[in-house]
Formats: sequence, structure tokens, C-alpha cells
Amino acid sequence: MTQRTFSIIKPDAFRKGHTGAILAEIEKAGFGIVAIKRLSISKAQAEGFYYVHKERPFFASLTQFMSSGPIVAMVLEKDNAIADLRKLMGATNPANADEGTIRKKYAASIEENAIHGSDAEDTAKFEIGYFFAGYELA
Ligand code: CMP
Repeated sequence: MTQRTFSIIKPDAFRKGHTGAILAEIEKAGFGIVAIKRLSISKAQAEGFYYVHKERPFFASLTQFMSSGPIVAMVLEKDNAIADLRKLMGATNPANADEGTIRKKYAASIEENAIHGSDAEDTAKFEIGYFFAGYELA
């Protein structure tokens, strides 16, 4: 069944000029782009997005990084979109990512890891709603 997921091209990948290459991989893998925008977020906005990680030792650094420059936020659609995007992204730590994955190719470290993808249906719903209004998804 067609499913939607949420993804961010992170500031490291945007800064290095990898946005186009990553979007091409996403399209080649069969995802439809439902909505997409380039924006910069404040530290407070990054904290709201990553609130589930607020007790983690990397929270301050992660939210600093995510607010350090432009990002590309998008809603993607295909059968099994959530799991398939995570497969295409590769492991959180690029050192553990499989050959051919986006993080293997473009990520520098566990924090500056090029791309975010929702990990479950409920988080996808929250994350899509955090960045996009209903009319943008019509
Ligand atoms: P993401 O998929 O966006 O979800 C949470 C993010 O926290 C993750 O990608 C990484 O960028 C970051 N992260 C996860 N684990 C660590 C860690 N051990 N150290 C630093 N950053 C981390």
C-alpha cells in the first residue's frame, strides 16, 4: 500500500552540494516527491523536531548542527516508503552503512549523516505535520 514518509537533506549534505545527487537517488528508487522545500530552522525549531531525543547526550550538538544552515525538507511517497527510505539511507553511523547507500556515499559522521528519514508510521505523521501544512500535501 502507498505510504508517506518524511525526509530531510541535512545541513552537511546541503553545504557540500549533494542535494541534487541525493534527490536523484530518491527518485531512481521509485519515490514520488509529494512536497519539498528548502529552509533554515532555529535551534528551538530543531529541538521541537527532535524532542524524543531530548535526554540524549548528543541533543545539544545535534540541534546546533541541524540549525547551522539550510536543509531540504520533503514528503515522499511509495509502497513501503518508511522502510525503503531507511534502507536507501543506510545505517545512522556511515561507518556501518552498506555500500551504495546515501550515508555511505555522502555522510561524514554519525551526527553529520546527510539525511534523515522517519522511523515509523507515527513519527512520519508527526514529522510531516511539523514541517508541512495540509494544503501543501493536497
Ligand atoms: P536522524 O535519523 O536524524 O535521527 C536522530 C539523529 O541523531 C541521527 O540521525 C543522528 O544525526 C544523530 N545521532 C544519533 N546517534 C548519535 C550519536 N551517538 N552521536 C551523535 N549524533 C547522533
